Amino acid sequence: MKRIVIIGASSGLGRRISEDFARIGLRVGIAARREPQLKAIYERYPESVVYRTIDVTAPDAVERFYDLIEANGGMDILLLASGTGHINPQLDVATDVTTVETNAVGTVRILDAAYRYFRDTANDTPGQIAVITSLAGTKGIGIAASYSASKRFQSTYIDALDQLAHQEHVNIRFTDIRPGFIRTPLLKEGRNYPLEMAISYAAPLIEKAILRRKRVAVIDSRWRIVSGLWRMIPQCVWSRIALELKDSDNKS
Ligand SMILES: NC(=O)c1ccc[n+]([C@@H]2O[C@H](COP(=O)([O-])OP(=O)(O)OC[C@H]3O[C@@H](n4cnc5c(N)ncnc54)[C@H](OP(=O)(O)O)[C@@H]3O)[C@@H](O)[C@H]2O)c1
Repeated sequence: MKRIVIIGASSGLGRRISEDFARIGLRVGIAARREPQLKAIYERYPESVVYRTIDVTAPDAVERFYDLIEANGGMDILLLASGTGHINPQLDVATDVTTVETNAVGTVRILDAAYRYFRDTANDTPGQIAVITSLAGTKGIGIAASYSASKRFQSTYIDALDQLAHQEHVNIRFTDIRPGFIRTPLLKEGRNYPLEMAISYAAPLIEKAILRRKRVAVIDSRWRIVSGLWRMIPQCVWSRIALELKDSDNKS
């Protein structure tokens, strides 16, 4: 039975993917900060799920992560789905620092620990490290500077660990999942997001990418085209594009 550990499982994509994987018979270790939400998933799938509270910004996150892996009977796949992000053109410092601590520093903590775990265990069967990064990491986005930069950080960190794993002959596959907008609690209610996807549509695409061990998965094909076009825009032009997101009751 495949064993997956999912960090950021208390809501949104992590929660949906945890439940889907538990339903198809994977052994699923789940974590986030909010215990009642984790317990509710455990109570629906007590045979397949174990849970621990983990705050990826806290120094004890690694210890708790290893404890969860042990409770799960081991780990074949890590899915890092924890994250936070805000529209913050006013550059509120506390918001930006929390975003970087969660998305960048938290990623370093968990991915370093997962790498070390697989280095010590994945001699025969390859381990897999999957992260839900974002297409927001494709370009610096002015109204969400710390979010877009921290998502770029995650993708670059995966690339770096992938190179290190080859260099050290460590048997780990890496999966960088880059979605466009998906309607989860991360998105502000009442605000319109372009090409928004339902979680019921996007989660199965993400699950397929993980199980097929894709190296990079853009979710979905429409966003693949959009992000391909973004990449071609020179920075001097990109800097002059005014991006904004409108509230749905104010579409004019
Ligand atoms: N929704 C989108 O449009 C979209 C698009 C591209 C990428 N993504 C990425 O997808 C991932 C999942 O987001 P989502 O859309 O599913 O949003 P979400 O519903 O807000 O889920 C975020 C998850 O991260 C956990 N989390 C946040 N801070 C944490 C911390 N310090 N320690 C541990 N867990 C923490 C939350 O749990 P607790 O609060 O209980 O800790 C929650 O389970 C994020 O990395 C996000 O950037 C989302």
